[in-house]
Formats: sequence, C-alpha cells, structure tokens
Amino acid sequence: MELNLLTFIYLVASVTFIVGLKMLSHPDSARNGNRVAAFGMTLAILGTIFLYEKERARLGNYQWIFGGILIGTIVGTLAAKRVKMTAMPEMVSLFNGMGGACAALISLVEFDHLVHLDPGFLLIIVLGLIIGSVSFAGSIIAWGKLNGSIKDFSFKGQHIFNILLLGVIVALATYLIVLLPSNAAFIFYTLFFLSLLYGIFFVLPIGGADMPVVISLLNSFTGVAAACGGFLYDNKVMLTGGILVGAAGTLLTILMCRAMNRSLTNVLIGSFGGGGKTNATAGTAAGIHKEISLSDTAVLMSYATKVYIVPGYGLAVAQAQHACHELEKLLESKGVDVKYAIHPVAGRMPGHMNVLLAEADVPYEKLLEMEQANDEFPTTDVVLILGANDVVNPAAKSDTSSPIYGMPILDVELAKHVIVNKRSMKPGYAGIENELFFRAKTSMLFGDAKKVLQDLVAEIKNL
Ligand code: TAP
Repeated sequence: MELNLLTFIYLVASVTFIVGLKMLSHPDSARNGNRVAAFGMTLAILGTIFLYEKERARLGNYQWIFGGILIGTIVGTLAAKRVKMTAMPEMVSLFNGMGGACAALISLVEFDHLVHLDPGFLLIIVLGLIIGSVSFAGSIIAWGKLNGSIKDFSFKGQHIFNILLLGVIVALATYLIVLLPSNAAFIFYTLFFLSLLYGIFFVLPIGGADMPVVISLLNSFTGVAAACGGFLYDNKVMLTGGILVGAAGTLLTILMCRAMNRSLTNVLIGSFGGGGKTNATAGTAAGIHKEISLSDTAVLMSYATKVYIVPGYGLAVAQAQHACHELEKLLESKGVDVKYAIHPVAGRMPGHMNVLLAEADVPYEKLLEMEQANDEFPTTDVVLILGANDVVNPAAKSDTSSPIYGMPILDVELAKHVIVNKRSMKPGYAGIENELFFRAKTSMLFGDAKKVLQDLVAEIKNL
C-alpha cells in the first residue's frame, strides 16, 4: 500500500517537473512553473524520507537528513536572495556543481555496497562517478572564471592532452567494468581523481564569453549523472528528473550555439572571448564617432512615431531596467509606439534580458524577438541601444575574420536614427571593435545607463 502511495507520489512529482518546465518557457508563467516543480520535488523528497522501505526497514537517520536539509535550505535561500542579476550565471554554475558532486558522492558511497552484484550496477556507478565528477570540477572552474577569481589558462597541446586524458578514463572504466580486477577499488578512486582533473582541464581554456554555453552543457552532464543515481536506486522520480535536466541542458546548449552561429566544437576549443578583456583588434579606431546631447535625444525620441529599445549586458550591469520602463511609459503617454528588440544571446545567460525587463514589469507583448524586430526596423524612427554591443555589431555580417562572423545580429542600421548608450568606446564581451558606433546614422550617448535614462526621463518631462 505504502509502496503504491510512494509510486503515486513519484508519478505526481514527475508530472510537476514536466508541467513546471513547460511553464518556464513563458515569463508570465515562469515563477509559477518554478513553484509547481519545487512543490513536486518537496513531495518526492518527503515521500522518500517517510515512505521508502527496503526489506521492511525505513530510512531512519532523521537528524542527519533534516539537519542537512535545514543547512542546505538556509544557504540556498540566502544565496538566491542576495545574488545580483549579473552574477546569476555563476550561481547557476555553483548550484549545478553541487548537483554533480551529489551524483559522484552516490557512486563513491555505493561502490563498496554494490560492486560485486552485477556488472550493470558497476557500469552505472562508474558512469555516475565520471560524469558527476567532471560536472562538479568543471562547474567550479566556470564559477571561478565568471567571478574573476580564476583566469583563462591553456598550454600548447592542451586539447590533445584533454583527449588523451578522456581516452585513459574510458579505457580504465572499461577495464574495471569488464574484468573487475582485484585492485578494483584503486582503479575506481583513480577514475574519480582523473575525472576531476578532466573537468578542470576541459573548462580552463574555454573563452569567457562562451562560459554560459559550457555551463548549460555541464548542466546536462549533471542531469545524466543524476539519472544514473535513479537507475541505481530504481528511483523513478530521480530518473525522470535527471533525464529532463539532461535533455533541457542539451537543447539549451544547441540553441545557444545556434544563436551565435557556432558549432559546439568551436565553442569547446575556440577560446572565444576573454571575460571582458580587449583583444588585439580592440582600440583600432574605425573612424570618428559623433555624440548626441541628452536634450537632442529627448526631442528626437519624443517626436518619433516608433522607437525600439535594444537592451544588452550593460543594462543589467547598471540595473537600469526600472528607469528604462519609466522612459517607455513616458514616451507611450506622448503617443510614441515603444517596443524592445531582444537578441537571443544579449546579456550573459539565456533569457537574461527577458528576466530583467520582466522584473521591471515591462509587458511581455512589448518584447520582440530578433527576427520580428529586424522586420520592424525599416519603419522605425529611433533605435536606442542600452549597454548592448556585440549583438548589434555589423562585423558579424561582413567581416569574415571577426570572431563573431556569422552570428545573426539586430539590424539596427535599417532604422532612421541609432543612439548608442554606453560608458565609453570600449568593446563588448567578444573584445572587438564595433563599426556601428562610427556610422553616419549613429550617435553616442555616453554615461551609465541608469543615470542617462533617469536624466532623459527628466528632460522629456520638461519639454
Ligand atoms: P556586450 O557585447 O558584452 O556589451 C555590453 C556593453 O555594455 C559594453 O560594451 C559596455 O560598454 C556596456 N556597459 C557596461 N556597463 C554599462 C553601464 N553601466 N551603462 C551603460 N553601458 C554599460 O553585451 P551584449 O551586446 O548584450 O552581447 C552579449 C555577449 O555575451 C555576446 O558576445 C554573446 O555572444 C555573449 N554571450 C551571451 C550568452 C547569453 S546566453 N546571453 C551566452 C554566451 C555568450 P562600456 O564599458 O563602454 O560601458
């Protein structure tokens, strides 16, 4: 009876994961989607703690289990509440690393118990160990790179070294599973160590701008490692959850690569982007830029019929989303049609701009995807670019030597006027010059996005 109740709980939880995931795909329902999935996860955890039975024995050890849950809840809640929007990718990476570590720990703990039972079990234990350890070590390196505490590092022949290391891991794992030698434990712990090493060397050379793609890939690894745990314990909800995370992470990785027009191989060995550093091409001025004053911007925007705002990473850095929404409402009250053009990889994580603008209560209908926005630009009077750079860089279309060549961009130049707000002429994340800033239609409006927007609102009110 209880077993059936537990199976039913697992079924309900699995359904909540799928429904929650579906709801996450729209900003209006995303918060509730998170709640639905969290409810399912709580149900599954409590069900396992109180109803799981093996050989008529329940789990026990409640003080340890609830002690761990309490500490995890406090740390997780505080971290999630305090994190800045710009630091979100690194937090996702850290949390993902913890998932990988859990999967590896399951394998470490269960190795002694299950090793002699069945080669099938051993295969799952070894897979969970390898994938979980790679995900853990890789995620911690990604976390460190994103918060600046770990620098990009590579040496000559590193990719060959990585391939060899992976080859040794696969060979040792096969030897262990097929022959189960007398020194099995030694090989198992060697595999653990080598997998951690691989995770570190796999992520270390990857360029800063590609970190979100790598995090998404590592996320899918964690999902697969968790699914191994599900197989091991014959736990359906762990299996479903792991597979969903694995599949979602893989799809997100593919979508991000597609949005940047890069292959996964290119991302993994391309060393693209340098965490905000400029590269050799930066600073080679492509011409003379012209500036526009706040009052001229105010007049131009107030008397326009159609205005598009292009948000980018700088808007998130400045936390200018509320000021931006205020400008939009003010212009709308003057009869101007204002919309937002959202590039799929604007910012530093998938959906970054959508989340940012949703936080300021910008209606979702005002956000247009890149293709739709590009169709609208020819009939647009003013495009206001707020802290975006790479996603509007025309080099992606014309300069075959550019690292972003082939990436679809927002064709802002089709509009009548382009106003770019940023603090300086420094390049964006890809570290390359942007010719758009020197074009005849473009005017630069320098300053921190929040301050500029607040001043612009005041200026328009005074017109
Ligand atoms: P970026 O190209 O990084 O440019 C952001 C610009 O914002 C900078 O040029 C910076 O110029 C400006 N800025 C910074 N702080 C500011 C502030 N307080 N006020 C005003 N401006 C400020 O951003 P983007 O156009 O959004 O492009 C995103 C980049 O990240 C792309 O290269 C993309 O491939 C990469 N990437 C994104 C993702 C996802 S999923 N979003 C994944 C992988 C890679 P100043 O320093 O002069 O102010």
